[in-house]
Amino acid sequence: MSRKFYITTPIYYVNARPHIGHAYTTIACDTIARRQRMLGADTFFLTGTDEHGQKIERAAQAAGKTPQELTNEVSAAFRSLWDRMGITYDDYIRTTEDRHKLRVQELFRRIRNNGYIYKGTYTGQYCVYDELYVDAVGPGADCPECGRPTETVHEENYFFKLSAFEDKLLRLYTDQPDFIRPETRRNEVMSFVRSGLRDLSISRSTFSWGILVPDDPKHVIYVWLDALANYITAIGFGSPDQADQQKFEKYWPADLQMIGKEIVRFHCVYWPAFLMAAGLALPHGIMAHGWLLFEENKMSKSRGNIVRAETILDVLGADALRYFLLREIVFGQDGSFSFDALVQRYNADLANGLGNLASRTLTMIARYFRSEVPYPSHTAARRPADDAIADLSRKTISECHTLFDQYQFSRALETAWGLVAAVDKYIVENEPWALGEKQDEESRARLGTVLYTSAEALRIVTALAHPVIPDSTTKIWAQLGLGETKKFPLSELKWGQLHLGTKLGNVQAVFPRADKTAIERMQKMEERDASAATEAQPAAGSASGGTFAAQVGGAPATSARSAVSSSDGKISIDDFAKIDLRVGQIRVAERVKGADKLLRLEVDIGTEVRQVVAGIAETYEPDSLIGRKVVIVANLAPRKLRGLESNGMIVAASPEGGKPVLCSFLEDVPMGTRLK
Ligand code: ME8
Ligand code: MG
Repeated sequence: MSRKFYITTPIYYVNARPHIGHAYTTIACDTIARRQRMLGADTFFLTGTDEHGQKIERAAQAAGKTPQELTNEVSAAFRSLWDRMGITYDDYIRTTEDRHKLRVQELFRRIRNNGYIYKGTYTGQYCVYDELYVDAVGPGADCPECGRPTETVHEENYFFKLSAFEDKLLRLYTDQPDFIRPETRRNEVMSFVRSGLRDLSISRSTFSWGILVPDDPKHVIYVWLDALANYITAIGFGSPDQADQQKFEKYWPADLQMIGKEIVRFHCVYWPAFLMAAGLALPHGIMAHGWLLFEENKMSKSRGNIVRAETILDVLGADALRYFLLREIVFGQDGSFSFDALVQRYNADLANGLGNLASRTLTMIARYFRSEVPYPSHTAARRPADDAIADLSRKTISECHTLFDQYQFSRALETAWGLVAAVDKYIVENEPWALGEKQDEESRARLGTVLYTSAEALRIVTALAHPVIPDSTTKIWAQLGLGETKKFPLSELKWGQLHLGTKLGNVQAVFPRADKTAIERMQKMEERDASAATEAQPAAGSASGGTFAAQVGGAPATSARSAVSSSDGKISIDDFAKIDLRVGQIRVAERVKGADKLLRLEVDIGTEVRQVVAGIAETYEPDSLIGRKVVIVANLAPRKLRGLESNGMIVAASPEGGKPVLCSFLEDVPMGTRLK
């Protein structure tokens, strides 16, 4: 029986559509899953969406939809993106599916029957953004994880005896050092647990968008317990059905659970504790990768500094995105995304690198050997350079296996592309095109050897890179006349497997060079996407930017124009009422890199914190603005300024030729107050 391999991504929240941060995790897991299949493992790759909880309930409210409508739409958007990208997931779990709900209730029962759940009263702070109980801080405090204001919760809850697991968890981290990777994350978790664990509230009773607690339908199960359980419910845990149970027996425990570093505590502390409490086996390992940054900050839907995968797929293709993310960023660390770097890598490594090696090698075999792989000489026409390529190929295979096994994608690809560069150099030095012009026997033998050597090295790189860039390597493999790459048994890859006389397929370029307009086209698509998103969700609380005064890009003041209703230019009171002017308080102010006039502000408007990019940097030092109350146009369509989404506009007087001056009040006014 073959070895099994079960791998999972986090299940993504459906409060907004996917961006390349989500794609990053999914691509890494898809690469691992594809590689495991090529190595012969019976692989199961799970992804899905996290659809319950207060955050989703509120996002739906803001969008004027029912939670189920919103979750249906956004979950479908995630799934269709993965399909478009050729992600080879084996199952896609949604937490609103019945199969999940029933099995989560079963998990709850097991934990309760084992004596780890009791009823109590929770009074404390809760961060809806992180769906996190925030311990040991008073009312009005900000969330230590994300800095947003917390809400005070006082309700009867069910509690999980997390405190009973302190020693067991510490023993787990010690006995199984690979349980949490990388090391830095493991150290953080260990010190968190060592500092003491308090029992955890695992139900809520003041809203209803969740899975009901069995036998007590006043409560819904805490969304993180619900969400984490997906990793077992999807493969059949808690189902009365025999086939489901067998599936669970077969695949659980997971071999690898991939997450981003911000959800380590949930996965490395709560999750193993829940599993221990239910008497279930623990996953073999949890790997937390770093953050994808854009313009120096974590790419996130709340910040709005996002890039859509679709944009890159349209212009450069899925393989370009996959290669870039895995090659450019050291897996485990944070890394920056930029369109410049993407296009640069694409052209250097894919168009000029692998693509060029494939087309020149295959074209010459087509031309000089009528598309049949030629015979490498073992005698007179053999040179040390030929053996050097064979040796380097052998070394590359073994190093790549090791590096991929350790999820060091960047170094694995760097190593494989070292072989691409070496073969390029070898071709240039051996000038097969010159040999091709000569008819003597020695030149023919040399030509055959050079082209065989190049084609065989190309085949090896293609096989090694297949899990990362499946589309283009499938094409190259077919051009080499080898059938389907994904069926190739990767563990058997070695030098010399390319058969003489193999008939090549049609030779075609795989990576067309990206020209100068590629970057511009992608940036334009992103701008269009940002404004389309707002039109679709006018009430979603994402509006746009600048101030009335400083009109970066010339957009503002249009809000008044669209309200004009009579021919004398006057507007009715109803038109004025359409403008949602509110008092907000500045929480965060910082300069926007590369823009002299712009500040990035986070403005608390009572119900939420808005990011606004305002053109007031010439008048105000960022620090002087913290705590200041301002007037914000809260329902303005969002727009992107320097890659940052601006959700609203700060009202300021704009003297002719002078600097903008913020509107403020002499008396104190509560945050969130409307101006009318
Ligand atoms: O946390 N860089 O969902 P989520 C790297 N539903 N990875 C990123 C990223 C970025 N800028 N942005 C997102 C949740 N990700 C919960 C998880 S699991 C039982 C429940 C990826 O929609 C990364 O994998 O906020 C991160 O952990 C995940 O998306 C968070 O997605
Ligand atoms: Mg998140």
